[in-house]
Amino acid sequence: MELKNKVLKAHRRQIRFSRILAKVGYNTAIGKLLRLGLYYMDGLTMLRAWRDFLYIRKDNIGDKFFAVDQAIMHSSHAQVRELMQVEPQVRGNDLGIIRILAPSYMLNNPLSLGMNGNEHTGIRAVFLQALPNPTEQAEFLGQLVNKSLSKAAIQGQLHIGNDLPRMMVAILHELVFQISLSEEEITASAAYIKGLALASLPNFISKYLLSFKTSPNIRHRQRLIERYKQSPRWSLYLATGAQYQLNAHQIANSLFDMIHIAGTAGTSALLGSVIGVLCLDNALRNDVISEVNAVWDGKDTPSGYALAQSTLLNKVILETARLYPPVRFVSQLSTERGEVEIGTQRCPFQRGTRLLGSIFTANRDANRYKNPDNFDLTRDFSDILSWNGEGHERVCPGRALSIGLIQMFCLYLFKNYQWNSFTEVKWDFEKVTAVTPNNLVLQGFASKR
Ligand code: HEM
Repeated sequence: MELKNKVLKAHRRQIRFSRILAKVGYNTAIGKLLRLGLYYMDGLTMLRAWRDFLYIRKDNIGDKFFAVDQAIMHSSHAQVRELMQVEPQVRGNDLGIIRILAPSYMLNNPLSLGMNGNEHTGIRAVFLQALPNPTEQAEFLGQLVNKSLSKAAIQGQLHIGNDLPRMMVAILHELVFQISLSEEEITASAAYIKGLALASLPNFISKYLLSFKTSPNIRHRQRLIERYKQSPRWSLYLATGAQYQLNAHQIANSLFDMIHIAGTAGTSALLGSVIGVLCLDNALRNDVISEVNAVWDGKDTPSGYALAQSTLLNKVILETARLYPPVRFVSQLSTERGEVEIGTQRCPFQRGTRLLGSIFTANRDANRYKNPDNFDLTRDFSDILSWNGEGHERVCPGRALSIGLIQMFCLYLFKNYQWNSFTEVKWDFEKVTAVTPNNLVLQGFASKR
């Protein structure tokens, strides 16, 4: 009850502020300060109870409501889908709901998510060149996945929250740059990703007051970026980027973010959830094992054909991504001012207002999905929103690779590896960390061969 009151009271303040902002100006010093206050006020509640926060506002106010820095949150499937289709889309340097207020953590290069126009088109061309097609490169993918899992077998356990991001960051460096990271570099990359919240603090706090935390991560980023420039693939990326007037700093930094933030964090979270789902559901796991046995004999590496034939696994991944989307919010900026209906009130909003789409609530919208909280493989996945929808300029460029990687992990896990037991499978819907069973451990993890 206390949380409900707090969340609704804070929303009444948001409504009042929408009128004040209309008077004092959205981007004036006072306007910015007011919005920053709102951002941290809602943000602190969301840090500890993000799902309840969303549903309290959705159930009591409506599908659209204000949140964080006077952003307009869209929470139904239809609204979020429509929002994703906007083209061209104007962005600020935001990671979903998180505003990147300390560019120093990113070496002063905006996220690709925050780029617009030619710069964004160019960086996407580099991404699409850098990301391999998983069916064409299945053999290499298989070798990399097996190498990662064999390390876990030596340690005798597979820890979802700790080991999967380490594996993924190493694999993506091999795929994108043909670079093998050392154990120290993998540890530093994992620390970089864990420290991302430090980028949402005001720059002087992040860079100076918390430099004991941020500077090792920033130094690691600088060193890795220098390594990227030694990669055999670097000249290809440089040539593509140059066609769009992108320089080496922009290209290397954007590829760093593509690998660390989008690729590693997203894919390891989804793989962790898939493993969690399959640990809990014996019948489904047995069906998946039958499929694995049918498409691959466990010798050599699985072919691209084996990946294409893993249709049940593909559906398991899509349904898991619906229920536990690793990316929960998408964000863009309104290009004009106007009025928005929030509950029973019409509220003014200004040009530049953030329009947020809540993928988590959209994916569980009862108007789109029957019994939305149930795991159901018979659903129509054609308009799934978890990879930012389909058929527009901002869709996730890593969708095919992330699905291919997760399929490959499952093929190896269920054919060539085994474990005796596993710890509790629990998704944390309170703390705003990734939606994945981070504490799950596969114990007695070993190779069958
Ligand atoms: C190999 C793994 C992956 C790579 C390399 C990758 C890469 C990227 C990149 C570079 C972007 C930014 C695109 C742009 O600026 O136009 C992006 C966006 C996005 N990705 Fe991925 N991704 C991966 C896995 C995933 C996974 C597993 C999910 C979720 C199931 C996901 C969901 C999204 C979403 C929702 C966006 C849009 C975010 C926004 O617009 O704010 N990605 N991805």
